[in-house]
Amino acid sequence: MNERKAGLVEQQDKEKNSSMEVNLTKQDVLILAIETSCDETAASVVKNGREVLSDIIYTQIALHTCYGGVVPEIASRKHIEKINQVIEEALRQAHVTLAEITAIAVTYGPGLVGALLVGVSAAKAVSFATGIPLVGVHHISGHISANYIEHKELEPPFVCLVVSGGHSHLVVVKDYGVYEIIGRTRDDAAGEAFDKVARAIGLGYPGGPKIDRVSREGDPEAISFPRAKVAENAYDFSFSGLKSAVLNYLNSCQMKGTAICQADVAASFQKAVVDVLVEHSLHAVKAFGYDKFAIAGGVASNSSLRRAFDEECAKRKIQFFHPSPRMCTDNAAMIGAAGFYEYQKGVRHGYDLNAVPNLEL
Ligand code: KG4
Ligand code: ZN
Repeated sequence: MNERKAGLVEQQDKEKNSSMEVNLTKQDVLILAIETSCDETAASVVKNGREVLSDIIYTQIALHTCYGGVVPEIASRKHIEKINQVIEEALRQAHVTLAEITAIAVTYGPGLVGALLVGVSAAKAVSFATGIPLVGVHHISGHISANYIEHKELEPPFVCLVVSGGHSHLVVVKDYGVYEIIGRTRDDAAGEAFDKVARAIGLGYPGGPKIDRVSREGDPEAISFPRAKVAENAYDFSFSGLKSAVLNYLNSCQMKGTAICQADVAASFQKAVVDVLVEHSLHAVKAFGYDKFAIAGGVASNSSLRRAFDEECAKRKIQFFHPSPRMCTDNAAMIGAAGFYEYQKGVRHGYDLNAVPNLEL
């Protein structure tokens, strides 16, 4: 499970790279990647789309916890305060200078507009000052591309389930950066459901990792919560009914004066989400004739979801790919991986690049 400690610039690659000279050839493509779509200020240097030379994340979780969720204005202000430091640290830990960077990749949507704007403005400023080409990246394309970093052998086509705080998409990855959405949520995203249920049972923000942890002490069969099917599309999701069922259960316990077992509610809710995600996804993999399946996004770090996919993919002879928990939640290395393939295709953005909060995949 990936539970980020608040207010800290993570420097996991520091030790690894500290005494290391970077061997670069003329053909190597070095991407400086920037990600500020929500509450993580992140920068990374990625070599040839697959090798992470540095991966810096300043997480704002502590600042937002007392509000029960991300406060957009606070997020934007903190990004402004941290962005230069995070970029400098990413270059320093990668042992490279801007002169060696081939392109700058930046998330320009979807996300919080004020937060996105900080990263986009920083990327444009560095690009303008140095002449290094600018490549805008879709945040979800970044999440999917996290799989390329840790599975060097993974190549499209494959099916990917993207489950984050804002998205629940089933996607056919036809080629690098080429996606066909075959299923999506009709209401809440999976991560949103985790966060709302966590709040309702008193676990607070951020909900996903807390439900993951508390569920280990609970019985996933204790309460029977609904598994929603969407009549028109077998690959779509709906989580609002499940969320209401949890709230109704809590209300009825309260009215009857029955004690609520937090761990049982968490485990039963989590099992209902996991069952639906596994069933819909693996049905799609077979129906569309693929044999490779990947997961991505913050909810993909859920330990029960990973275990369930491991078991079910093995049973159904599907190759299963998943980024490490750290690479599932927001980071800039994944933007560097996606940015590399965009750069290779010739994508370049001008200084009119803007933040697009509801950018379509
Ligand atoms: O991908 P992400 O870091 O940011 C977005 O792009 O939204 O995803 C954040 C979401 C949050 O809703 C959080 O509660 C959820 O991912 N999450 C988890 C876990 N870790 C993060 N959900 C379930 N189990 C987890 N271990
Ligand atoms: Zn994300």
